[in-house]
Amino acid sequence: MKIVHTIKDLQAGLSVLKAQGKKVGLVPTMGALHAGHASLVKRCVAENGVTVVSVFVNPTQFNDKSDLEKYPRTPEADCRLLEACGATFVFVPSVAEMYPEPDMRQFSYAPLDTVMEGAFRPGHFNGVCQIVSKLFDAVTPDRAYFGEKDFQQLAIIREMVRRMNYPLEIVGCPIVREKDGLALSSRNARLSAAERKNALKISQTLFESRTFAASHTVAETQQFVEDAIAAAPGLRLEYFELVDGNTLQKIASWEDTAYAVGCITVFCGEVRLIDNIKYKE
Ligand code: PAF
Repeated sequence: MKIVHTIKDLQAGLSVLKAQGKKVGLVPTMGALHAGHASLVKRCVAENGVTVVSVFVNPTQFNDKSDLEKYPRTPEADCRLLEACGATFVFVPSVAEMYPEPDMRQFSYAPLDTVMEGAFRPGHFNGVCQIVSKLFDAVTPDRAYFGEKDFQQLAIIREMVRRMNYPLEIVGCPIVREKDGLALSSRNARLSAAERKNALKISQTLFESRTFAASHTVAETQQFVEDAIAAAPGLRLEYFELVDGNTLQKIASWEDTAYAVGCITVFCGEVRLIDNIKYKE
């Protein structure tokens, strides 16, 4: 595994392997890697001759400066995990390497990016599209891998690829959960033991709501989730939305879509956690 810090070095290393006809897979990350990332990297390694993993805490996607400062950074452990997964290159650029000048590009994929995370984190998806497009341009991968935990991000990146005609395949990978159900997230590292216990109620509620939904309306299921989170100690619901998994627009009835997804964001203490569940697909 080679660790590279510049686009020039990465492209020099890749060009030799591309000339040998190898397919290139890219796994963009912000580091603080866990088993969820490992599942993306292992799948990428299994499906491509070359795997590039980028590790870059992208400042342009943080609308809250203190969130950016507190974002966990574990470079040594990340490299150990990536080596064990079989990555070919780890690309660890500096901010100056990715943004030699301020990125003035505006990406707007309304209504996908105006709801949920887009409404609560203004500018977030613009920053995500800025960095992901720069990574696509630098690596020119055949495939790129993203987790379904960031369900809205995945939908927006698919839309960006479609509109910008990037010649690559986006591979969405299922959420990886702890044994007790908590969705893996780099932010979980910031939870105290008590908060970790409280956070479990998020996935538990989502799973229970799926059973509940089988015999109740969309509005009743919405209320079920809101009530359960309101009653849970240490949790504050930011939003729960039942949406069409393709358009991300709210549904009013289960008959509105063949692909129904519930997306939730909850503050557990100061830590903002997201999760989602499929009701119909
Ligand atoms: O999902 C993430 O970790 C980030 O949003 C991504 C895609 C690596 C872009 O910085």
